[in-house]
Amino acid sequence: MKEYPHIIIGGGIIGLSVGWQLLRAGIPVEIYEEYSAPRSGAGWNAAGMLAPQAEAGYEEEALFNLCNQSLALYEKFLEELSEDVQKVVVPKLYKCGSLLVAVTSDDIKTLERQNNFRTSIGYGGKMLRGSEAREREPLLSPKVKQALYLEHDAQINNRKLLEALLEAFINRGGILHEHSHVDRIISRNGIAEAIEIQGEQFQTSGISVAAGALIGKISGIDSVGIRPVKGQMISLKGDPLSQLQHLIRSPRVYIAAKDDDRLLIGASVEEQGISRSITAGPIMELLHYAWEVIPLVYELEISELQSGLRPASRDHCPIIGGSDIEKLFYATGHYRNGILLAPLTSYALRNEIVYGKKMERFEEFSPQRFTNKTKIVEEIV
Ligand code: GLY
Repeated sequence: MKEYPHIIIGGGIIGLSVGWQLLRAGIPVEIYEEYSAPRSGAGWNAAGMLAPQAEAGYEEEALFNLCNQSLALYEKFLEELSEDVQKVVVPKLYKCGSLLVAVTSDDIKTLERQNNFRTSIGYGGKMLRGSEAREREPLLSPKVKQALYLEHDAQINNRKLLEALLEAFINRGGILHEHSHVDRIISRNGIAEAIEIQGEQFQTSGISVAAGALIGKISGIDSVGIRPVKGQMISLKGDPLSQLQHLIRSPRVYIAAKDDDRLLIGASVEEQGISRSITAGPIMELLHYAWEVIPLVYELEISELQSGLRPASRDHCPIIGGSDIEKLFYATGHYRNGILLAPLTSYALRNEIVYGKKMERFEEFSPQRFTNKTKIVEEIV
């Protein structure tokens, strides 16, 4: 009897990671990507910051723990990737830490408050005077009054990671269909059975939806409240700033020097629907705020203006796991943490799909937290 493949909708960082891990577990996988992989998803235009400590939001402890767990899995994930690629380079994990800098007295209060919160969850950093911060990063502006050093954060070259994941997916026998828009998911008796593209149906043993911010374009499923949140970013020719030792952030901007001569300045957070247009305002502000922290930015050549669509759920946490429809799985809503959460998402979904094993304490990230609410409302009315 023919073995139908597991179908993944979306060939970005999450779709490729999940697909590759399923292949490693012996499951045949086909990815259907709306545009082309791996360049069109949010991950290509990300900054590759693996920074749970810097990004930790108030009252987001569960997300913080999840992000930390995923960071801890990164070395294993990259080792496995090295086993499966020959042509492209597997990116290095840089354990660089973050330096959060304060330019105004408001910024200083913000840093202190942020550090108090981090200390309360066991991940406090070290407050530095401006001069101490400049000893660590000589290119910081004399305007930097204080800084918070967070040692646990890391970074990776997101573009190299995506290239490596694509090669690993193909080398493991994965099939990639590009420029393929999935119109509909077909379920019968509460079980997902097939996808439909331009009237043609393709049978499947299971479906994982990793379509990021484009999930709303697929009918036959609940789009679990995902909305696109646009981020614009500037890439400068990094040299001589490639010598930056840390991820640098102020409350208004972040700066990440990559190992391929890109110096990334990001990112706007915009509610614009599905629009990836580059606009003057955010670009101007980001450049200004980056210059405020590192004046040398003024001299550098712009190599690329980028934008991406972060897939955001209503609670800004990811949505990972099986749904109310049997054999239909979600891996979306990664919002600001797609690159960081790729290892954990791929292992968690593999465990659930292949071994029927759900991660402990994972309910907070399950699709049911949205779909059940819809049901309750339907029952009442
Ligand atoms: N994680 C960085 C961003 O979403 O801009």
